[in-house]
Amino acid sequence: MNIYLLTNLVYIVAAVLFIFGLKMLTSPATARKGNLISAIGMLLAVVVTLLSKGIVDYKWIAAGIIAGSIIGAFSARVVAMTQMPQMVALFNGFGGITSLFVGWATYHVMTTFNLFTTTTIFLAVLIGGVTFSGSLVAWGKLATYISGRPILFRGQTFLNGTLFIGTLVAGALLLMNLQNGYSYSYAIFIGIIILSLVLGILAVIPIGGADMPVVISLLNSYSGIAGCAAGLAIQNNILIVAGALVGASGIILTNVMCKAMNRSITNVLFGGFGATITKGNMEIDGEVKPVSPEDTYFILEAASSVVFVPGYGMAVAQAQHTLRELGDILEENGSEVRYAIHPVAGRMPGHMNVLLAEANVPYDKLVEMDDINKTIASVDVCVVIGANDVVNPAARESKGSPIYGMPIINVDQAKTVIVLKRSMAPGFAGIDNNLFYKENTRMLFGDAKSSVEAIISEFKKS
Ligand code: TAP
Repeated sequence: MNIYLLTNLVYIVAAVLFIFGLKMLTSPATARKGNLISAIGMLLAVVVTLLSKGIVDYKWIAAGIIAGSIIGAFSARVVAMTQMPQMVALFNGFGGITSLFVGWATYHVMTTFNLFTTTTIFLAVLIGGVTFSGSLVAWGKLATYISGRPILFRGQTFLNGTLFIGTLVAGALLLMNLQNGYSYSYAIFIGIIILSLVLGILAVIPIGGADMPVVISLLNSYSGIAGCAAGLAIQNNILIVAGALVGASGIILTNVMCKAMNRSITNVLFGGFGATITKGNMEIDGEVKPVSPEDTYFILEAASSVVFVPGYGMAVAQAQHTLRELGDILEENGSEVRYAIHPVAGRMPGHMNVLLAEANVPYDKLVEMDDINKTIASVDVCVVIGANDVVNPAARESKGSPIYGMPIINVDQAKTVIVLKRSMAPGFAGIDNNLFYKENTRMLFGDAKSSVEAIISEFKKS
């Protein structure tokens, strides 16, 4: 069989594995297997690509594989779960710069002018460059190397729009110059690279840290589209398919996140959310009622149904294992225990699912927001563990609130709510939460893991 045919047959198998892998990633029960299947697809694609006759030297490829494997294995071990969003941002950025380099290299090997190749090179460089520098800014904001507050200035949208149009004009000039054999086409090409990098920075600085997960998902999509363009430039089928899959799934995920926050993508990109700390304009009445671990024990001991609502604070406290232990104790005590998952709880899609899966919480105990809300009024106790914005009734009640309209888990409608957090500090959106003042709410102050441990020790004493 000729090598071209073999390569493309294996590419088809790899593409099928990617699609099945992606499908399996949609459920926590099959996600790990899905990841493995996609990885096998990628391994097959890489191996057959390495057999290609076009490869002139394996030395650099080997050096890249070794360096990449060391960095990947090292970061997978040392990066904490709470740092995962910024790691994903970096990975997207590397994907973008790779497409830019592929486009750049293809520019050099292009011997005669070809409209299609030049256009795809331009797209790979433009989108790859925006993805790279935009992802670096997103990473810097999440890792707090730069301020998470939106950086806004007068005429910003106009400047960004002008730069974008300028880049398209430069692209058109490049085509004309190459076609006519003029010598300054390379200068224009380098100009396009610089413009795309500047555009990426300017596009992300006006976006607040709270919106970074959405931006990262969007940049993930861009990295796929850039990869797809690079694949078209070098005529590599699997790069086209993989890039298109990443591009499409990133857009879908971005859309899901925007819906879960009741915001439009335009509002996320241009709204400057978080530029000012707002207290919202809801009326706060009632008083905060702190509760001790002993009293929490008495409340939980008498409950026949308990719903845990985890949020970002559970990730910070790494309380998932102790929470599961408490869940087991409550079940032994005769309570029905469920875990309610808000789609944007935490700082990345599926954040809570991953943590609870790590603590071996059975998948059938995880309940999605819409389903738990239908039965929440009959729940005896909702234990909110490090969640804040995703249970803030202002989203339902306070028209002027920045989160008004965002779907939330209606814990305030349960018979009793116990909130585990360290202080009265607001969540990521920076707004007050009147849940903490409601008649049926008790506040158990302290680090979430220590608080859960204290409750467990009360159960053990009894
Ligand atoms: P947040 O609203 O950010 O609240 C987390 C709470 O955890 C804080 O109020 C904090 O209060 C508490 N906390 C922190 N460390 C703790 C510890 N060690 N022990 C106990 N509590 C601790 O979290 P959330 O409810 O999960 O909401 C997520 C936010 O991120 C939303 O605004 C959402 O829109 C945004 N967002 C998420 C995503 C994704 S994909 N997840 C995407 C875009 C935006 P104390 O400091 O008082 O302890």
